[in-house]
Amino acid sequence: MIVLGIEPSCDETAAAVVTDGTSVLSSIVSSQVDVHHKYGGVVPELASRMHIEAVSHVVHQAIDRAGISKEQIDGVAATRGPGLIGALLVGFSFAKAFAWARRLPMAGVNHLEGHIYSVLLGDEQPRFPFVALLVSGGHTNLYHVRSRNDFELLGQTRDDAAGEAFDKVSKMLGLGYPGGAVIEELARQGDPASIDFPRSFLGKESLDFSFSGLKSAVARHIHEHGIPGEKAMADIAAGFQAAVFDVLAQKVVAAAKSRHCRSVAVAGGVAANSALAEKIGRDTHRSGIRLYLPPRELCGDNAAMIAARGDQLIRDNCLVRLDHDVFSRNRSNS
Ligand code: KG4
Ligand code: ZN
Repeated sequence: MIVLGIEPSCDETAAAVVTDGTSVLSSIVSSQVDVHHKYGGVVPELASRMHIEAVSHVVHQAIDRAGISKEQIDGVAATRGPGLIGALLVGFSFAKAFAWARRLPMAGVNHLEGHIYSVLLGDEQPRFPFVALLVSGGHTNLYHVRSRNDFELLGQTRDDAAGEAFDKVSKMLGLGYPGGAVIEELARQGDPASIDFPRSFLGKESLDFSFSGLKSAVARHIHEHGIPGEKAMADIAAGFQAAVFDVLAQKVVAAAKSRHCRSVAVAGGVAANSALAEKIGRDTHRSGIRLYLPPRELCGDNAAMIAARGDQLIRDNCLVRLDHDVFSRNRSNS
């Protein structure tokens, strides 16, 4: 089955063609980051307008790059939520028109389930059940993934998402938006032990997260020590990153142990950070647990993961009707 995926939930217009939910024939991501960068974050109205301008071109590029014709497409999948409502509407409406004009089945995909499916597009996939950590700009969620359609939420952030904390610290250091990759790069030159930033574990049993205290500690440090020079900035980045990753690794291992899972997966934009992969890889290995990651280019928002999740929904006959709408906050897909 050849599925066309469309994902425009935030500041990237993405389209992809995936066969049988496993093989990525093409994955195009058109980023708006240059536009939003000067505002220090995503401006929703601008994002919607740019999706409208880009969506048709990006979809056709994905089809061309896959080396197929439109007639070969068997189904369409588009992100239904959560995300920016105006942005979602652009892709969802485009997908509806594309599917209905060709009488194709269409799936409305939960963006978070899409991120989990990105792990199934790697060279090696975890076996069910596994624990999945989704770390992105909007979410820090821990799941017990029991099967292809069963995602039990074990924990989530009570304030900032991990990626959001990276973006905010980057802003404090005058490094702009988005901050993840910049902080990772800067942290390479810093000493993670030179500043002992707080780790919030929220009690022994909790699988929830909190990063607002850490964010405030970084702000306080900058306030007390003044605008940092290059070396001090690198130490702040390294210390902050180590604090985030210590908490993420500890909770992933605890979740896997509590659910007797031998496999864990990490997905979402922050999963592209190699220091995170190293930290979780080390800690899981020590406990006899194996870590799985999506291909690096599928960590951030992309449409291949949406097509992969959509493939399963279409097989299960879980289809979108014309009167179905998008949603901005998370809820179950069905
Ligand atoms: O999954 P994603 O592309 O979009 C959402 O669904 O939110 O994640 C974007 C987030 C941003 O906050 C960005 O700063 C973060 O992922 N990110 C990173 C890295 N690359 C992207 N965080 C840490 N290290 C990175 N290398
Ligand atoms: Zn995402």
